[in-house]
Amino acid sequence: MAYRVGSHWFAGPVHVDFNLTNRCNLACRHCHASSGEPLLAELGTADVMRIVDSLYHLGVLSIAFAGGEPLVRPDIAEILRYAAALPGMSVSVITNGLSLTPALRAKLAPIKNNLTINVSIEGSTAENFGRLRQSPSGSAAAPALFFERIKQSIRALVADGFTVSTNMTITRQSLKDVVATHRLAVVELGASALVAIKFFPGGYGSSLAHILEPPVPAWLDVFAELTRYKLAGDLPGLQVSVPAAWEFYLPLIAADLDIVAAEQAWGYVGTARASSNGPRDIGDAAGFADLCIDSDGKVYPSVLLAGEPDALAGDLRRDTLASIWRHSTVLNGLRRLTVSDIEGACQFCALKDLCGGGSRARAFALTRRLSGPDATCPLIAQPGNAGARDEARQNTPPRIPAVRRSWTVGVGRHAIRVLRLDRGCEVRTRGHVWHCPEGTAVALEAAAEADGTSDLTLALRHETAGNGLCPDRVGKILAGAAAVAGTEASARP
Ligand SMILES: C[S@@+](CC[C@H](N)C(=O)[O-])C[C@H]1O[C@@H](n2cnc3c(N)ncnc32)[C@H](O)[C@@H]1O
Repeated sequence: MAYRVGSHWFAGPVHVDFNLTNRCNLACRHCHASSGEPLLAELGTADVMRIVDSLYHLGVLSIAFAGGEPLVRPDIAEILRYAAALPGMSVSVITNGLSLTPALRAKLAPIKNNLTINVSIEGSTAENFGRLRQSPSGSAAAPALFFERIKQSIRALVADGFTVSTNMTITRQSLKDVVATHRLAVVELGASALVAIKFFPGGYGSSLAHILEPPVPAWLDVFAELTRYKLAGDLPGLQVSVPAAWEFYLPLIAADLDIVAAEQAWGYVGTARASSNGPRDIGDAAGFADLCIDSDGKVYPSVLLAGEPDALAGDLRRDTLASIWRHSTVLNGLRRLTVSDIEGACQFCALKDLCGGGSRARAFALTRRLSGPDATCPLIAQPGNAGARDEARQNTPPRIPAVRRSWTVGVGRHAIRVLRLDRGCEVRTRGHVWHCPEGTAVALEAAAEADGTSDLTLALRHETAGNGLCPDRVGKILAGAAAVAGTEASARP
């Protein structure tokens, strides 16, 4: 019998944030990555490609390249082209948009159907943009010039047929600017999305949290108002990124809005509620489905923990990714954590099944402990119970299966990825991960029967129907499904 993830752990991460350099041509006041100067020994082109290969082999479905400013790397087009050529890999690059020259656009044109360029626009006006983004030289005129250049870059990308998404950071000062920024980015400039990222108190932002963090009552009001627009079908392409699920669910509850309808309208489901989380009750995917690789090859549970020595999971200059993923003390510690291990009152909270203990990265930023309370949440200011289960946790290490072989079929940005494990297999599609101890065929059948309507899922169903499957046929099944869907399968040892 095949089942969704829960009874054991992902054989590899599902999404990876990959910082390509810490160098940056802007000086943003809020930068959680503390960017500016490069890290001491940053990865070269061949190292990056080797790591991208290992991500593919471990079944990663999406990579977001960022930094620092990734476009200051002279080999950026080479790296993006390499990653985008992997079948079914969803690839994005997050950029401040200042280096999107015609020459770079031309180099990226061949992969435009498999690349999302995410430009940080940060506001509807040069003034709002300049509250966060400044020139390293401190020039007062620079933000206005940059803002114009970024808008021109977005227009040019859209005209060339790229998929362009945009980002803005939601701070106390920009709470009321979301609708206007959406109008500028999506309606006027033609971007397909605006991702509104709620401020995170890390890096340079940590010392400005008292100025930039949106106050909870204001956040509750603004997010409820935005949700009403979304429920009415307005603000197409507006997405939200919050450090913790309570920041999504609490405003809905306070305003008596329908949670499931809001999830559908935003396309967001908290990790603790997602089926792929299975019995795990922690609502943060860091180290479980998500991982971050920093520009010096160091590995962290999530991008919001990058650069934190106490959250260091491993170093790709010394170890393989597969080994770090399976054996890292930091990652396994996070995987063993349950809501009742979190200091404070999370375990008694009525929202715990929706939220799953808040953001582990913000808890770390505020307390320096991954099991600390996410004290931005208004519901948890209660006495702690840390450490009660430390011993039990150490005695029950999670079992992370090793990947022996992997296959992928990609249709555009959709993929079915099959990982042959020590025992059985893991089949990944967008939105679902299936484990099957009996073997690949049963999991493939389950994946084919999953609620999917893509050409590929239909084709896979066609290929698996009544074929008397055995695991050795997986490559043929995928190749056949790919042919039916009009695409290609690839097998990578
Ligand atoms: C760290 S930047 C790196 C990529 C690139 N240099 C850029 O400017 O987009 C990635 C995104 O994180 C956002 N960001 C930076 N610091 C943040 C913070 N403290 N909280 C939330 N978002 C932040 C940025 O505004 C940007 O959209």
